[in-house]
Amino acid sequence: MSHADHHEGTRRDFLYYATAGAGVVATGAAVWPLVNQMNPSADVQALSSIRVDVGGVESGTQLTVQWLGKPVFIRRRTPEDIESAREVDLSDLPDGNARNANLDAGAEATDDNRAMPGNEEWLVMMGVCTHLGCVPLANAGDYHGWFCPCHGSHYDAAGRIRRGPAPENLPVPVAAFEDETTIKLG
Ligand code: FES
Repeated sequence: MSHADHHEGTRRDFLYYATAGAGVVATGAAVWPLVNQMNPSADVQALSSIRVDVGGVESGTQLTVQWLGKPVFIRRRTPEDIESAREVDLSDLPDGNARNANLDAGAEATDDNRAMPGNEEWLVMMGVCTHLGCVPLANAGDYHGWFCPCHGSHYDAAGRIRRGPAPENLPVPVAAFEDETTIKLG
């Protein structure tokens, strides 16, 4: 195979995987590590910091944005979501760590420590299952939150792992409100 052929083959493979990945995202379950391994060039790398307009997100729904090549869930929680997340006994959590990049590494996984500060209606977290990297489905599972169909991990309304093989809560990235309807990631 000439160098040119080889290059073309590689490029085709990348496009194929990228397209396959995007297709599966639409249905909610993609294997992101596969896409990441394609080593995206500079033109497909996301910016390290982005602003997201969340003004149109209704209660009980979420916006999924891509940031640093990964999906981020921005969820506007209902009062029932918040209540169900708050009534959980911390000793029932498989992972007691908040996994919140905005807090100290040892912060506990309370709902307060997971939701946006001073604005518990909003929950921002990476939409990547901590087991093997699938994208969990919203409004699914047994705990009022997300369900990862790849191997059956259930996350609650604060994105904390409750049952299944995933070892950790969905990580909360650096995020803050810039104004009432704008969240800055990174
Ligand atoms: S990747 Fe989510 S349960 Fe395995």
